[in-house]
Amino acid sequence: MGLQKKLLLLALVGIAGATSLTGCSGDTPKQEGTEMTATANEQPTMEIKQESFGKTKEGQETNLYTLTNEHGMQVKISDYGATVTSILVPDKEGKLGNVVLGFDDQSGYQSPAYLKSGPYFGATIGRYGNRIAKGKFTLEGQEYKLATNNGTNHLHGGNKGFDKVVWQAEPLPKQNALKLTYVSADGEEGYPGQLTSTVTYTLTNDNELKIAYAATTDKTTHVNLTNHSYFNLAAGEAKDILNHNLTLNAERYTVVDETLIPTGELRNVSGTPMDFTKPQPIGSRIKEVPGGYDHNYVLTDTSKKLKHAATVVEPASGRMMEVFTTEPGIQFYSGNFLDGTITGSGNNTYGKHYGFALETQHFPDTPNQPQFPTTVLKPGETYESATVYRFSVLDSKQE
Ligand code: GLA
Repeated sequence: MGLQKKLLLLALVGIAGATSLTGCSGDTPKQEGTEMTATANEQPTMEIKQESFGKTKEGQETNLYTLTNEHGMQVKISDYGATVTSILVPDKEGKLGNVVLGFDDQSGYQSPAYLKSGPYFGATIGRYGNRIAKGKFTLEGQEYKLATNNGTNHLHGGNKGFDKVVWQAEPLPKQNALKLTYVSADGEEGYPGQLTSTVTYTLTNDNELKIAYAATTDKTTHVNLTNHSYFNLAAGEAKDILNHNLTLNAERYTVVDETLIPTGELRNVSGTPMDFTKPQPIGSRIKEVPGGYDHNYVLTDTSKKLKHAATVVEPASGRMMEVFTTEPGIQFYSGNFLDGTITGSGNNTYGKHYGFALETQHFPDTPNQPQFPTTVLKPGETYESATVYRFSVLDSKQE
C-alpha cells in the first residue's frame, strides 16, 4: 500500500483501526484480566441477524446468527455446535471472501459424508479438545472411562461432543457478540460433573473475532475447550493452503506416538520441518512430516495472558490472520484427512489440505500426563480461556 493511501486510510478509520489495515504484528488485543470481555471494545450497537438454519436430523430447530462490523467483515455462527460457519474478510483489493470451511445450512453438518470423515468444521470442541489416551483417566482416586471414538483413544469430547449439540444462544447487540450456553450432564460421554459452558463470540471493528470461554462444574472434572475452524485465506481461489506462510510462536512441540498421543517429550523444532518460528510456506517441508502436520505446539510465552501464538499470510490475496490466546498450546492441523468427499459453501469441494486449523488448547492427554499444565476444574472455580483471530491485509513492506 502506498504511503498516501495508507495515510488516508488511517485518517478514515482512526488509530484504533490502523493495525488491522496495515497488518502490523505483535500488538496484543485488549483484554480485561484473563477473561477477555466483549465490553473491552467500545463500539456502536450493531444489529445481529437471526435466521433459521434448518432442523437437525433429530428434528430440533437450529438458528444462524450474523455478526457484522463497520468494515463489512461478517461472521456467521450456528447454535448447533456453537459453530462458526462463515467468516467474510476483505483481501488487499477490498474484496470480501469466505475464509473458513463450512456449510450454508444445518444438513451439511449431519450429512453421511460429513459424519464419516468427522472434520469438526468451525465447531466448539468439548468437553476435552484433542485426544485422551485409551479414553480413560483417574481423578481423585476414581477411574473414569470415556468413549473411544478415535481408534483406541478418545477424541474431541467423544461420540456426541459439544460440536453435536444445540447450544442456547443469546445475542448481545451492544457488544456485537453472541453468547452460547450448553449444560453438559454429569456422566455425559463418561466425564464426571455437570458442566455449564459458555462461548462468547465478539466481532470488533479491528476485524477481530474474539472467542471467550467460561465453564463451571459441580464435581471435579477435566475441561479443554477450543474452536475447530479450518481456514483458507485465499477464500477458495486456491484449492489448498500449501502456499500460506505460517509463523508459530513456539520452539517446542509435544512428540506423539503412532496413535497421536504425546510421549511426554517436548522436542525443540530447530533444524526440522516442524520449525515455524520464522515464516514458512505450509507446503515447503510437509512431505517430510509423515501424514502432514497434526501436532500440538508449546507456545514460547507460557503466561496465561492473551499473547501472540501464530500469524498466517496468504500472498496472492494479501490476507493475513494473527492468532492470540491465553492457552499454553496450539494444535496445527494441515487438513490431512480432507479427501474430497465433502462439498461445502460456495460449491467448494474440500480436498486434502484445502484448509488448516489452529486449535488453541491445553496439551493432548493432559489428564494422564501430570507434568503438563493442568486441565482440572473443581467446583467453585471458573474455567476461563480466550482466543482472538485478527484479520488484516499484508502491508506492501512485508510482501
Ligand atoms: C484434530 C485432530 C486431527 C483430526 C482433526 C479432525 O485436529 O488432531 O487428528 O482428528 O481434529 O479431523
